[in-house]
Amino acid sequence: MLPPLLSHKSSRFTESVIRGMSVEAHKYGAVNLAQGMPDFPAPAELKAAACRAIEADVNQYAVTWGAQKLREAIAEHAQWHLGLSVDPDTEITVTCGSTEAMLVALLATINPGDEVILTQPFYENYWPDCVLAGATPRFVPLHPPGWSFDLDELAKVFNDHTKAIILCNPNNPTGTVFSRTELETIAALCQKWDAIAITDEIYEHIVYDGRPHLALAAIDGMRERSVTISGMSKTYAVTGWRIGTMIAPSRLTHAFRQVHDYVSIGAAAPLQEAGAFAYRMPRDYYTQLAADYQARRDRLCSALLQVGFDLELPHGAYYVMANIEAFGAADDVSFARHLVRELGVATVPGSSFFQDKALGRQYIRFCFCKRDETLDEAIRRLKPLRVIV
Ligand SMILES: Cc1ncc(COP(=O)(O)O)c(C=O)c1O
Repeated sequence: MLPPLLSHKSSRFTESVIRGMSVEAHKYGAVNLAQGMPDFPAPAELKAAACRAIEADVNQYAVTWGAQKLREAIAEHAQWHLGLSVDPDTEITVTCGSTEAMLVALLATINPGDEVILTQPFYENYWPDCVLAGATPRFVPLHPPGWSFDLDELAKVFNDHTKAIILCNPNNPTGTVFSRTELETIAALCQKWDAIAITDEIYEHIVYDGRPHLALAAIDGMRERSVTISGMSKTYAVTGWRIGTMIAPSRLTHAFRQVHDYVSIGAAAPLQEAGAFAYRMPRDYYTQLAADYQARRDRLCSALLQVGFDLELPHGAYYVMANIEAFGAADDVSFARHLVRELGVATVPGSSFFQDKALGRQYIRFCFCKRDETLDEAIRRLKPLRVIV
C-alpha cells in the first residue's frame, strides 16, 4: 500500500462552507448573500491612490512587516479610533489579510497542549487555524437572545492550559458588539489565567444605532496581552486587496514578524501605499460607512421578517442569523441548498459556524454588504417561501 500523501492536519479539513456556497451561487446564477464581499465599488480616491502607486513603480517587495508609511497611518488611526498609543516601528505588522494575521498570531504563540477558547458560533476559519497551529480549541456558547456568553460558562472554560481566547468583535456571524462590561469580564479572566486575547476587529467601523466599538486592548491591563487584528477588507470594500493588520506589544510583534516573513514575505506593496491613504480618510467617511450599512441592515432584515424568518437585528458587522423553523425545513443545509438551487439565493447554513452542528440547524446566515438592487432582488426571489403554521 502507498504511504498516505496528506498530513494528519490537512486531512482534518473540509472545504470552507462559505466559499463553497459562493461556488454554488455562481453555478445556479444565484444572488450571493453567502460570502461577505461587497458588490459596490471601493472609494474612487482609494483606487486612484493604488493606481498612482503602480505608476510610480512601487512594484517590489515592501518591508516584510509593512511599509513605514502604512504603519504610521495605522498607528494614527488606532489612536483616534481605538484610543491605543501604538509604536509603528515595533508594534504593528501588516499581513496578507487579517486571515494571515490570525494564523500568524497562533503559529507564533501556541505550544503543544495549549488551549484556545473560541466563542460559538464562530467565524469558520478559527477552527482550522487552531488545527494548523496545534492548539486545542475549547468552546464557550453565545446564547440568543443577545448572542452573548454566560459569565460562569466562560469562567469554567479557562484553565492552566489556556493560552489564548479569540474574540470576534463586532461578531461574525451573530452581530454582537461586546459591551465594556463583557470585555472587562474577559480581561479579568485573561489576567487571572495569564492568557492572551486575540481579537478579530475586522468589522470595527461597522456598528449600528450609535453603539461604540471598544477594543479589548484598551481595557485596563490588556494592552500587554492583546493582539488586535483588523485590516482594510471590510472598512474600505477591498476584500481582494488582502491587507491585514496586527497590533501587539513588541515582544509578541517581534515573533509575529518572523513567522509572517516565512509565511508570505509581505502584502502587496502598491496596495500598502494606497492603505496609507485609506487610514487617513476623513472621519466622516467612517460615519457614512456605518450609516450606509445600517440602512442595508434595516432593508434586508425588515424584508426577511415579512417573508417569515425570525431574527434579532445585528448590532454590528454585516450578517444576520435568521431562524428558519417557521418554514418546517428538515435542517439548515437542505434549506440553504433549496434556496440556492430552486430560488436563486445563496446563504450559509448555520451549522457551519458551530462545532456541535446540531446547535446551528435552525439558522442560516445572510450577508447584506450589497447594493440595494441586489438585496431587493434576493427578497423578490425569497417571496415564494411559505411559512408552515
Ligand atoms: C470575522 C472575519 N475575520 C476575517 C475575515 C477575513 O478578512 P481578510 O479579508 O482581512 O482576510 C472575515 C471575512 O469575511 C471575517 O468575517
